[in-house]
Amino acid sequence: MPTITCIEDLKQLHKRRAPRMFYEYCESGSYTEQTFRENTSDFAQIRLRQKVAVDMSNRSLAGAMIGQPVAMPVALAPVGFTGMQSANGEIKAARAAEAFGVPFTLSTMSINSVEQVAEATSKPFWFQLYVMRDEDFVDGMIARAKKAGCSALVLTLDLQILGQRHKDLKNGLSAPPKLTLSSIMNLATKVRWGLGMLGAKSRSFGNIVGHAKGVENMSSLNAWTSEQFDPRLDWSKIARIRDQWGGKLILKGILDADDARIAADFGADAIIVSNHGGRQLDGALSAIRKLPEIVAAVGDRIEVHLDSGIRSGQDVLKALALGATGTYIGRAYIYGLGAMGQPGVTKALEVIRNELDISLALCGERDVKALRRENLLVPKGFFDAYD
Ligand code: GLV
Repeated sequence: MPTITCIEDLKQLHKRRAPRMFYEYCESGSYTEQTFRENTSDFAQIRLRQKVAVDMSNRSLAGAMIGQPVAMPVALAPVGFTGMQSANGEIKAARAAEAFGVPFTLSTMSINSVEQVAEATSKPFWFQLYVMRDEDFVDGMIARAKKAGCSALVLTLDLQILGQRHKDLKNGLSAPPKLTLSSIMNLATKVRWGLGMLGAKSRSFGNIVGHAKGVENMSSLNAWTSEQFDPRLDWSKIARIRDQWGGKLILKGILDADDARIAADFGADAIIVSNHGGRQLDGALSAIRKLPEIVAAVGDRIEVHLDSGIRSGQDVLKALALGATGTYIGRAYIYGLGAMGQPGVTKALEVIRNELDISLALCGERDVKALRRENLLVPKGFFDAYD
């Protein structure tokens, strides 16, 4: 077993162990991937302010997201096809998150169904909803998430239409994978993955197949989104879902201060500043660059969370210092899952926790809740470089 010291180590193992179409699904942005790249390169431009000779004992990373206690303010983001990176991937990730004390968010486009994840866990998780044209399916999905005991609904607002990711089209991405000459040649080299899949509880989209009318054999995200996702999603439809759900609501995919104000007026519990990991509107600014403006607009009225670009505990520290109450990792834990299954997700969380803890101390702080803008050094004009 190689010594894992950082998220990059997990990424390299994931690349080796998972079928190419699923690794590349994870590791893509839309079109030119500019936004995907800048999500991480913008984090790298922000530096940390070192402080010395302060008592660094008794540090605390604990916090709360939407009023729920968290061991550190880092939730697992919803990620489609997770159960194709490793068999029963959503169950493994949910169990790792539960043991660690951070929220797990199950994607609508998961492989394990909401019922399978509920059965395999003992604490509530969060459910991410995509809004479909078929209102019966949406209502049914909300009822199923309630029945499974989910303690928050994460409603994604930035994917009514799928951004084009070139690699997915070239690879013929599907679950289960379509057998073509090139996919068979690649799958033949992934023996550990294939053996795991023999024991998988589900090999296609578990929330959908057998639940949505006329969908018995749906395997492609592209086909499903273009046929089924509701391009008419607007605030009135969001209100219908809010009322139907009736519980904690997190609105995901806000990148604009005006949209954030509407979301805050709307009575949601939190917003997630996000560009969907650079997978939707290529050319959008990075989430971290937009965060301070959005916190200034609504941070006194609603919790502001952030995803898109977090690959280390230092990135978490930067987002918290800029006003986020919570953060999400997507790829960072998927690398761990594809590399080593459930222990790999735990490893990703441990890596991030240790990086956050040590960096917090070397910044002269003892509590993540005390982090603020003064802990950072930011290039002049960074936050208003674009108009
Ligand atoms: C969503 O499901 C995505 O692929 O980004």
